Parts: sequence; C-alpha cells; structure tokens
Amino acid sequence: MMDFKEQMNRWIQYIELSLENYIPKQGEFPPVIFDAMRYSLLAGGKRLRPMMVLAACEAVGGDKKEAVPFACAMEMIHTYSLIHDDLPAMDNDDYRRGRLTNHKVFGEDMGILAGDGLLHNAMEVMADACCLNPCYKTVGAMQAIAHGAGIHGMLVGQVVDVFFEGKPLEAKTLDFIHLNKTAAMIRASLKAGAILGGATKEVVEKFALAGEKIGVAFQILDDILDVTSTMEELGKPIHSDEKNEKTTYVTLYGIEKSREIACKLSDEAVAIWDEQGEGCAFLNDLTKYLTKRTY
Ligand code: IPE
Ligand code: IPE
Ligand code: MG
Ligand code: MG
Ligand code: MG
Repeated sequence: MMDFKEQMNRWIQYIELSLENYIPKQGEFPPVIFDAMRYSLLAGGKRLRPMMVLAACEAVGGDKKEAVPFACAMEMIHTYSLIHDDLPAMDNDDYRRGRLTNHKVFGEDMGILAGDGLLHNAMEVMADACCLNPCYKTVGAMQAIAHGAGIHGMLVGQVVDVFFEGKPLEAKTLDFIHLNKTAAMIRASLKAGAILGGATKEVVEKFALAGEKIGVAFQILDDILDVTSTMEELGKPIHSDEKNEKTTYVTLYGIEKSREIACKLSDEAVAIWDEQGEGCAFLNDLTKYLTKRTY
C-alpha cells in the first residue's frame, strides 16, 4: 500500500503532466501572454482542486481519464483567481507560489489578461470535452465548475472580501466570504468529480456538502497561516490580511478558537467520507491532512 504522501505526490505529478496538454506551448504567438499564463500555472502549488476532481471521480468508481480536462480547467480557474487576487487593486501582493507575482514580472496589463486567458481557456477545454462526449456527466461537471467559480461562487466571494476591507464586518458576512471565495471552488471540484464518476444525485450532494465544509476549514487555516507561518514556507507573503485591513477568522475569534472551528468542520467532512465507504479513503486522508497543513 502506498502511503498518503506518496499517493498525493503521484496525483501532483499526473496533474502537472496533464496541464501541459491543455495550455499553449512556450513560444506560440503572441508569446508574452502564453508565457504569463504558463508562469503562474506551472509554478507548483498544491494542486488540491484538480486532485479532488480526479479523486472524487475515482471514489465513486469512475475513470480518472474522463475527468482530466475538468481537473485541469479547475486548476486554470484557480490560478486565474490567484493572479487577480494578487493585483495592486486587490490584495497587492508580490509573491505567490514561491516566485514574484504575475503582474510583478509581466506588468499589470498582462497579469489581468493572463488571468482572463486562463479562465477562457478553462471554459474552452471543458466545452471541448463536452463536445467529444456529450452527456450529463460532462455537461453537469462543467456546470458545477462554472457555478463554483462564478457570480454565485468564488467571484462574488472576492467582491464581498474586497468591499469590506477596512470596514467592520459581522461573523455571518465573513462566513459568506469564506463560503464563496474559497469553499465554492472546493465544493465544485468534489461535485464535478462525483458527477463525472457517475454518482447518483444523493451521493453528488454529499460530496458537495463535504466540499463546503473542507473549503471553509481551508480558508480558516489560510487566515491562520497568514499570521503564524513564514513567507518561505507559504511561498506568499505573511501578514497580507493585516496589511489590507481584512477581518478574518483570526481577528474575529483568535487563533485557537479558529483552529477548533476548522477542525470541527473537517470532522464533519470526514464523517461524510466514512459514511460513503472505502472508495473515499484518499479523500478522507486528504481532509485530515489539510487541517494539519503548514503551507
Ligand atoms: C490559495 O489557495 C487561495 C485560497 C483559496 C486560500 P491554495 O492554498 O490552494 O494555493 P496553491 O494552489 O497551493 O498555490
Ligand atoms: C483568496 O483568499 C481566495 C481566492 C479566491 C483567490 P486570500 O486572498 O486569503 O488568498 P491568499 O492568501 O492571497 O492565497
Ligand atoms: Mg484575497
Ligand atoms: Mg490574497
Ligand atoms: Mg490568505
């Protein structure tokens, strides 16, 4: 039996190789935009969302090959959200994934366009997969991902996040932010994977619910790491939230209580995986690992 870390590294390798197939090659014209897209997409990162798409598909008995374009699309959308999140008009951060942020290297104009490029490319990659195999599985997965990223998901979470910079905010507004800016993409990854694997509606909804809980816990940990970690470990600046006067789980509840809330959400997701059985063993381990992550 492979141990969990080994399994995770296998997934990461598989995802990195697959991404190359869906992104324009180096040197294609006009090079500046493709270089900028590749710079951030191929800069490492934990690859959690595509991993969740693939693992959820396998967990319900599906073939991961059918999920690959959707997993890659998910990572492209996530990377686009990071490029835009770091822009001067948003969090104004200089480092991401251990290197200078996209706009620091390519300029703000190309940073904006590289993000847009990744988003459009993701939609095209998914639509191509739908055309090749038009059925509920492919179209349903694309719908779940577009929904998670869009105006009832990540995008609106980012809107409320930046709107409340430097302004007082209630706990329920912070929960809206975390549910949307972060959990919606993780929910969509698990939901899309389960749909692609051919799960029943009931099972798909269980995966979505687990994703919601894992996603909020993930952002709480991100808020904690922003104050407790180091730039070397995270690959991005610490104290970004304080600099931007963001209300976070840490400012509202403190570190210990925030950790407790994240662990409780994670336990609730684990209970869902336990109930779903052996097929979810990897997702179960991944969920537990995420509450202990250091980057
Ligand atoms: C960062 O996501 C943005 C958040 C939602 C907190 P990740 O922590 O998954 O970033 P990468 O993909 O590993 O760089
Ligand atoms: C951003 O949250 C989540 C996204 C949708 C990109 P943060 O602004 O806290 O993410 P980091 O800390 O910059 O990765
Ligand atoms: Mg942000
Ligand atoms: Mg940020
Ligand atoms: Mg953060």
